[in-house]
Amino acid sequence: MRCELARAMEMTFPKYRKLAGSNSVYAIEGTHHVTEWQPMGSEGWIVHRHFASDYPRFVWIREMEQCSGDFESLTSNEWKELIAARHEHQPTEAIGRNLDPLSHPEECSFNWAMAERTTFGVEASARACAEVRSDAGVRWALCEAQRQTWPLMILGGGSNILMHSDWPGLVMHMNIRGVEVIYEEGNVVHATVGAGENWHDWVMLATQNGWHGLENLALIPGSVGASPMQNIGAYGVELKDRFLWLEAINRETGALQRFDHEVCQFGYRQSIFKAEERERWVIVRVAFALDRDAPLCTEYGAIQSELEAMGVAESATHFDVAQAVMNIRRSKLPDPNELGNAGSFFKNPVISREAFQKVLANHPDVVHYALESGQVKLAAGWLIEQAGWKGYRKGSCGVHDRQALVLVHYGGGTGAELWNLAQSIMEDVKLKFGVQLEPEVNQVGV
Ligand code: EPU
Repeated sequence: MRCELARAMEMTFPKYRKLAGSNSVYAIEGTHHVTEWQPMGSEGWIVHRHFASDYPRFVWIREMEQCSGDFESLTSNEWKELIAARHEHQPTEAIGRNLDPLSHPEECSFNWAMAERTTFGVEASARACAEVRSDAGVRWALCEAQRQTWPLMILGGGSNILMHSDWPGLVMHMNIRGVEVIYEEGNVVHATVGAGENWHDWVMLATQNGWHGLENLALIPGSVGASPMQNIGAYGVELKDRFLWLEAINRETGALQRFDHEVCQFGYRQSIFKAEERERWVIVRVAFALDRDAPLCTEYGAIQSELEAMGVAESATHFDVAQAVMNIRRSKLPDPNELGNAGSFFKNPVISREAFQKVLANHPDVVHYALESGQVKLAAGWLIEQAGWKGYRKGSCGVHDRQALVLVHYGGGTGAELWNLAQSIMEDVKLKFGVQLEPEVNQVGV
């Protein structure tokens, strides 16, 4: 048993190499990723990140891994000593990218209070928490959870979870920051964003810089790293429309891997990270493809009428659209800083055309959207409101009075109380409409 544990703690990646006859050192971060430290002058390093986007580079990494040619293997201690012997010279364009190989938490904080780190604000504590600010920090926390045999939870903005009990293990609090433009040509801008950046702050930074396409997603709570998990969406735009790729670290091996658009299998509030690849990866950065000349997307919902109310309908800019979305959201969604909530608690149910015909027969005014797949999406908010729950309150929990999809926590309540309310709503909607609702919010410790 002890041996098995010791083996499990040793991650496969990074692997460390040195080029014989030179002072360059390498960390193989995954089958397609290498970080190279090249000596500069007598004291510094210059750091290059290589991604094998073509076959020759992939072979170069594989040869390095196999120590063929002039590559020699280093232990992690040998590598650390070599790196620490010189100062790092970080390329200036790598804003906020934490390249310091020795930067990781080294220690956990214990009895970590979670109420103020999750937007529902339900009291709960975690046995331990590691604040991670770099890829190295992620690997350190993964090893620490394995070493202690603690269950691991990855927490971003805490805007999509409901805590039912204290967390018995380690919380990895994602704090990898930074925005880096990696490509710019004509109107096209590609940028990578650290998983720990706040989603709304990133949307506003992009909009203010003229990197357009995300403005309809303003004010969605949460972190950038969580956004691809459920392909966040609002007002006719989804993350997948501007997604380029993401990089994630494998929880078992420590390998860094890039996932492009197709591999992520995005769907309505869905991705591979909620399906086959669930709980296998830690997303560390996301790359977006933006466009200075992106078309304005104003057809959806109340955007057009809000732009009219703002007096800019004829001359609206991307920034105006972001402002309109913020106005609409503020008018009907509660601010988590004032009233605990996790946005939409339920997903809009997607049902077959036959099932829809049955609902329609009894409820001709049911709000619905036909999907390309032939299925039909219903507005869960409408179903819940028609069932009479909008504005309902029992003790410290309730249903928001301006958007029935949102459960609210007035303070002092528990996850179990909110979950009881959610279950009552699901049962009632099933009874009245024959439609099964599903929570969108992740339930922890049920
Ligand atoms: N409706 C009601 N009563 C309600 C709420 C909605 O009758 O209390 C009906 C209305 O007819 C409305 C329709 O439902 O026209 C759709 O409502 P809305 O446009 O507000 O959007 P939604 O389907 O309720 C989804 C997302 C929101 C996102 C909005 C806007 C889901 C689960 N939710 O809500 O996302 O902001 O569209 O695009 O898909 C979130 O995920 O936290 C979130 C807020």
